[in-house]
Amino acid sequence: MSCPKAIAATRELRQVIQVELEKSGIAILPPMEVARTTSLMEALEMPIDTSMLDPWYNKGFGGIQADYHDYFLSIIRRAGTFSQHVFFWGFPEIIAPFVERIPEPLELTSWLTWYYKNNPSVIRGWRSSQNACLHMSIAGAKLYPERFLNDKQLELKGKGKLRYMPGPTSVIATTPDDVIEESLLVGFIGKKEQTGHPSQKPQKVYDQLLRMSVADAGIVWDPMSGSGTTGAVCRDRGFRAILCDGSDEFTALSEKRLGAKRLEVSGLIEAILDQERASA
Ligand SMILES: C[S@@+](CC[C@H](N)C(=O)[O-])C[C@H]1O[C@@H](n2cnc3c(N)ncnc32)[C@H](O)[C@@H]1O
Repeated sequence: MSCPKAIAATRELRQVIQVELEKSGIAILPPMEVARTTSLMEALEMPIDTSMLDPWYNKGFGGIQADYHDYFLSIIRRAGTFSQHVFFWGFPEIIAPFVERIPEPLELTSWLTWYYKNNPSVIRGWRSSQNACLHMSIAGAKLYPERFLNDKQLELKGKGKLRYMPGPTSVIATTPDDVIEESLLVGFIGKKEQTGHPSQKPQKVYDQLLRMSVADAGIVWDPMSGSGTTGAVCRDRGFRAILCDGSDEFTALSEKRLGAKRLEVSGLIEAILDQERASA
């Protein structure tokens, strides 16, 4: 049973976030560990269309977490209780063990691949040219493949004559394939888009994922938002975003990129999470 202070703090924070989403479309939370943001979202009970989970890769840079799989299975499971869709990113060897352990109520919608040809690595042997992304959804979650139809296909659809509605894994040229080809943001490639974040994803890659899964003006939650790529796509597409990152430096990077200030809500967050801790 929540205490009155936590109930009041939850209500107030929900309102602050809603006002910000209404006003600018982007709510940046103060820097927080991903498990804490997840607890916060559970407490807020805001319906989220899509959770974008793009963790550090557990390969040294960004730290090594011994129980990485169990830790992220728990985050994915909890995200599935308040979002329709969950995307989970990593290198294929990181993602592979998750496929057999997708937590209910989520189901696998698709294994997506981001393919790039311009990895500047000079290691001998196989040069990495792909990132993997699991697309998981709850039963009945809506997809928006019609957004990728060209004029001709839209016309046919209007007349009820479109024989194949392109799905997320369709190979019809105007829809996103499950392999998205887009260059790494490195060197002179995507120079204007580069923010200096060491593992920034290209907007064009996130654009496909979010257009396929987010309702008009729907909300995306990204708890490891890095340079704010999710926010940049949401702003361009009329979606809304709740962003957070564990790093103060990268939170500042998102603020600069998106022209938004982090919400000054640390007191409210403490009041909510203190209560969660006490009742755990
Ligand atoms: C792969 S990057 C995300 C990049 C982002 N998608 C972009 O396009 O800029 C992972 C992010 O997780 C953040 N991070 C690392 N450990 C974290 C933690 N325990 N809780 C929350 N964020 C964390 C890092 O600061 C980093 O920005």
